[in-house]
Amino acid sequence: MANILVVDDERAVRVALDVNLSKAGHTVALADTGEQALAVLRSQAVEVVLTDLMMPGIGGMGLLAEIRRCWPRTQVIMMTGHGTVERAVEAMRLGAHDFVIKPIAKAEILAILSRALREHALHTQVAQLQAAVTERFGFDNIIGNTPAMLAVFDKVNAVANSDAYVLLTGPTGTGKELIGNALHFQSDRRQGPLVQINCGALPSGLLESELFGHERGAFTGAVRQHKGKFEQADGGTLLLDEVGELPLETQVKLLRVLESGDFQRVGGTATIHADVRIVAATNRKLRQEVADGRFREDLYYRLNVFEISLPALAERREDIPLLVEHFLLKFAARHKKTVSAISAGAMNTLVQHAWPGNVRELEHTVERAVILSKKPTITAFDLPEPIHTTSGTHANTADETLGEGESITTVLRAKEREMVIAALRAENGVQARAARRLGVSRANLNYRIQKFGIAIKDIVYG
Ligand SMILES: Nc1ncnc2c1ncn2[C@@H]1O[C@H](COP(=O)(O)OP(=O)(O)OP(=O)(O)O)[C@@H](O)[C@H]1O
Ligand SMILES: [Mg+2]
Repeated sequence: MANILVVDDERAVRVALDVNLSKAGHTVALADTGEQALAVLRSQAVEVVLTDLMMPGIGGMGLLAEIRRCWPRTQVIMMTGHGTVERAVEAMRLGAHDFVIKPIAKAEILAILSRALREHALHTQVAQLQAAVTERFGFDNIIGNTPAMLAVFDKVNAVANSDAYVLLTGPTGTGKELIGNALHFQSDRRQGPLVQINCGALPSGLLESELFGHERGAFTGAVRQHKGKFEQADGGTLLLDEVGELPLETQVKLLRVLESGDFQRVGGTATIHADVRIVAATNRKLRQEVADGRFREDLYYRLNVFEISLPALAERREDIPLLVEHFLLKFAARHKKTVSAISAGAMNTLVQHAWPGNVRELEHTVERAVILSKKPTITAFDLPEPIHTTSGTHANTADETLGEGESITTVLRAKEREMVIAALRAENGVQARAARRLGVSRANLNYRIQKFGIAIKDIVYG
């Protein structure tokens, strides 16, 4: 059952409650002053405190204030005589759960106690949920250590706390939704709602009633009033996902709403205002959509106050090992597998793959491998056939001309570094074998490792 702390300066009251509550299955601790109660609270977890109001020292009110400050989830029930009911009411205003008037009837105190316990359970559950949400959407779970991703994180931090509209662009599976969520949870609106709508999933009529709501009877099937996503997101963030799929007629209506901040529910006349921060995401090239007449230019400029563009995974291959580790841990825990490592060969294959589906595809690949793997280390055999066979192809598609700021020396140096790392990886960090693979002496390889500042422990897995 529960841990209850009874605080009263009258011994008879303490004894009576101790007997009754213990009989009901609770664990009871006793204290005869507020100060002593605080000492108990510091030493053990207590769900509910039953305290007398009038006691020497800090008294019931002082104890209540301390509990509210230090143990916000602990419920407090005030016990009071007839003369001090007004103060007990005041105590409820200050955060007590309830109060009882002495002499206390056993049935009454048990009923109040069970309500207090239910409230305590709810508070605990919400706190756990919130922690889970922060964990899930906080920056901790967004992986990236390449310049391209660090630039994305900088932009998120710079813009999160403003109310500026943000447009998230990038190919499918690059993390637009994830970043959209992070933008909300990093912003001042994090306590407000985060509402999401997939603009590509519905025909225009339904989409409008989803966005702006409808009145009862607005159309066949509108049997009750419905609040739209704009209203639901009031005080928070509205994530317009796949915004590039918006039908043109809905684009017109959306633009009007964004310009005025006001709208009407479908079939309604009342003007509704909602305080909403818009984050839009698309994997289409929106500028091209504008040029082709499929997306309104005025809406494009309205949404694109601040663009954050997510790079394709193939443009940040150095992040792949980090992502693989991250997903490995995540899915090993989720599927209760003891998989904890990946062989150098398998990692190399994953780093080389083209990843048209970007992080989403990598995530699924690792999850599948974790499920399939019968040993603590994932090997190439656990990877699907296509990934296996297409690996390495990107190396041959490299552009033969030089990019801006490149010279033949910088390109060759980069290539050299890549080959040294690949050889070390392929040979599990054994330098003698990597040297043989590269056709150089051990001393020569060692010189190159120093030159490029390669940390062997960082590149060897499994
Ligand atoms: N940087 C990252 N770190 C960790 N996980 C990531 C990262 N980027 C993406 N993911 C994961 O990859 C999957 C796809 O990401 P998300 O849904 O955000 O992609 P998207 O850009 O919205 O794709 P689409 O355009 O197809 O909707 C999700 O499971 C997400 O958690
Ligand atoms: Mg998405």
